[in-house]
This record gives sequence, C-alpha cells and structure tokens, in this order.
Amino acid sequence: MKSVINIALPKGRLGEKVYGMFEEAGFDCPSIKEHNRKLTFENEEKGIRFFWVKPSDVAIYVERGAADIGIAGKDILLEYNPNVYELLDLGIGKCRMAVAAKKTFRDNPAKTLRVATKFTNIAREYYAGKCRDIDIIHLNGSIELAPILGLSDVIVDIVETGKTLLENDLVPFETIVPISARVIANKANFKFKSERIEAIVEGLASVCKDK
Ligand code: PRP
Repeated sequence: MKSVINIALPKGRLGEKVYGMFEEAGFDCPSIKEHNRKLTFENEEKGIRFFWVKPSDVAIYVERGAADIGIAGKDILLEYNPNVYELLDLGIGKCRMAVAAKKTFRDNPAKTLRVATKFTNIAREYYAGKCRDIDIIHLNGSIELAPILGLSDVIVDIVETGKTLLENDLVPFETIVPISARVIANKANFKFKSERIEAIVEGLASVCKDK
C-alpha cells in the first residue's frame, strides 16, 4: 500500500483557493467540503490527507515533518526562515511587504526610527541593509494603529489592496518584497516520498499556469 502524503493547508480564504487548485489538479478529497469541525480529511484511494492549520503554523508542521508538504506565504518563510524546501510559487495570495506611515512623515536620519510590526526579522534585515538605526516595536495585529497613536514612526506590514492603509490615512512609502503563496516540503520526507510529492507539485504547477 502506498504511504499517505500529509498536506497542511492554511485555514481561511487562501486555503480554500489552494484546496481548489489541488482539486483541479486531480488531488481531491470530497469529505473536506462537509460542514463540520473536523480538521483532517483523507482520500484513502489517492493516498492524501489534508489538514487545516493556522496559516502562520504551516511551516512548523512541515519543518518538523508532521506534514510532508504545506502551503505557506512567503512572508512567513522570510520571517521564520524554516528549514524546508520551497518547491513552487502558486502565484496566488499576492501582496507585498511594505513600509507605511502617515502622509506627513519625513524620515530624520539623525533619529532612531521607531518601527511597529509583526514581522520583526524582515524589518530588522531590511533596515540593517540600509544601515538605518531602528527601534522595533513588536505587535500582534492592528499594526496600522501604531503611527496614528504615535507609538511608532512607521509600520512594516502586508499590503494587499491598500484599503486598510487608505482608510487609516496612511501611505505606503517603500516596498520591501513581493509576497505570494508557496508550496513547501519537509526535507527528510521529500527524500522518501519524492515521486509522489513531485507528482502533486507538477499537478499544481499545471493548474497555476491558468491563474
Ligand atoms: C493584513 C495586514 C493589513 C491588511 C492589508 O491583515 O496586516 O492589515 O491585511 O490588506 P489590504 O491592503 O487589502 O487592506 P490581515 O487581514 O491578514 O489580519 P491580521 O492583522 O490579523 O494579520
């Protein structure tokens, strides 16, 4: 009997889109569409098992081998730098990591720049590359509030449509890096299951060409 390929999907809108791509590529699992609170779904015949995890946890499941493959945003991969293979850019979940601030903000290089963000490693690396002295303020959400309330000078955050910034009177100043969803694989498991994992990745690659 062939071994099961364990696949970690990011819970939420992106995850549903990603599952749709698996389905289109022939790796479907009809039970996933049942409305219940189950978190794992298996298609025994196809030898695949999906499970929903918090998007920021996908890389942990894959790095530790609890999942053979998973779908993670490039933002998470850059921030946590997990020891995994990055196999494919799905070309969905597109957004960018950007620096934003109030319209009136002007950087004064003589002063330490206060940066609020959830992505402290990305922000540190970015400003280190510019030799800019910064003070990182780590927040877990509603980052846009920080410059409004004077907690920080700028924010480093994800911008998708730009609506959140606009509605909070903030403007994007610089793009740090473009982001999209990536297929990642556990390094050791990839060795044992490379043929099956490659077949899945090829299937996904062929459907993402149409996206
Ligand atoms: C992200 C990000 C912004 C928003 C940007 O938050 O932190 O707040 O999306 O999207 P927009 O440019 O389309 O307005 P998310 O919804 O992921 O929630 P979070 O703050 O909990 O991370």
